[in-house]
Amino acid sequence: MADSAIDFARDFPGLAQDVHGVRLAYLDNAATTHMPNEVLDAVRDFETTSRANIHRGVHTLSQRATDAFDGAREQLKRFVGAGPAHELVFTSGTTEALNLVAHGLSDAGLGRPVLAAGDEIIVTALEHHANFVPWQAAARRSGAVLRVLRPDPEGRLHTEALARLLGPRTRVFAVTAGANASGERPPFEALLKMAADAGAMTVLDAAQAVGHEVPDLSSLACDFMAFSGHKMYGPMGIGALVGRRERLERLAPLRLGGDMVEWVTEQHTTFAELPARLEGGTPNVGGAVGMAAAAKFIERVGRDTIDGHVCALRRYAVDRLSELPGVRVLSADSPRTAIASFLTEDAHPHDLGTLLDHRGIAVRTGNHCAQPLLDCLGIGPTTRASFAIYNTRAEVDRLAAAVAEALRALR
Ligand code: ALA
Repeated sequence: MADSAIDFARDFPGLAQDVHGVRLAYLDNAATTHMPNEVLDAVRDFETTSRANIHRGVHTLSQRATDAFDGAREQLKRFVGAGPAHELVFTSGTTEALNLVAHGLSDAGLGRPVLAAGDEIIVTALEHHANFVPWQAAARRSGAVLRVLRPDPEGRLHTEALARLLGPRTRVFAVTAGANASGERPPFEALLKMAADAGAMTVLDAAQAVGHEVPDLSSLACDFMAFSGHKMYGPMGIGALVGRRERLERLAPLRLGGDMVEWVTEQHTTFAELPARLEGGTPNVGGAVGMAAAAKFIERVGRDTIDGHVCALRRYAVDRLSELPGVRVLSADSPRTAIASFLTEDAHPHDLGTLLDHRGIAVRTGNHCAQPLLDCLGIGPTTRASFAIYNTRAEVDRLAAAVAEALRALR
């Protein structure tokens, strides 16, 4: 493969800039990817030709907006392999999608919640706080018990460990498709199946996978899957919860109000069918259009091409960084990951990240909203480089050289 599969200066205008007088090397894609022109064009086209509120008007623009929103939903359902038994609900992102599930299973506002006192929820210690804190709250709200599936000292999850936690009261199992803080790619297919076979509802946080290893919902034992537009070359502020319709129907809505009701009297409300029931309020229609355009972009470039490119770059980065004295990359041998998260002896990641920024290199530093994982591994904050289709081996070389130079300065 060529050094870069895409001419990013032409296709990704946000990357064609200098920072501190040096060409930007954007290696913070696990936090947010940049958008190609075809996504920017799709959003601009919607906003300039079809902007109106959906489902509320008989006028032409409202109908165009409704069609665009419904079309985006269908496009994204196909993208993640949803079948006739699935539905997709738009959210503001992965965080809202996971809150919708955890809250929706434990909220008593609209009747008896699914979770009850004494039930058990299992989450893994690899999770982003967005797939952890909502489950702590759900446990508190319902009286359920929260259990944590911890990794081995290398940060890997094992089915044997899950088997020991599953029991007759396990109602929910939630797992990530890729740990944002370490880059570990757990065997989520096997873990989900084991939990589903034990009778649990299953939740997959696909935020870190969807930009390169798009999960195929129909082949997974997965009831709910959450992902974000901005981690798959789409806009911020838009995401989705996709899952089995019969499971989505059991969720209490997170947002009560317009467009999610069937009929409202002074004392009583009946609710709309899915997906509207879980999408109260004016949605981010332009964002949905952009997210669907991002899915088309991934299909056009090729899922395998993107996955192969980012995984090869990550492997190269692991090799280059591991050559440096005092540098240890987490989950160095994890398959199918775009994330290289590393520890540096005698240098704080924030200092390192600042010096890298002065060299035009954007990385992320800190605990990556995953404190339980860092606690389990007995480590502090890390420096994280993460890759997308527009990154190159030359940028990895720049990263390795700049880390070496910064470490010399900091020590
Ligand atoms: N979840 C994003 C990250 O890992 C923000 O950086």
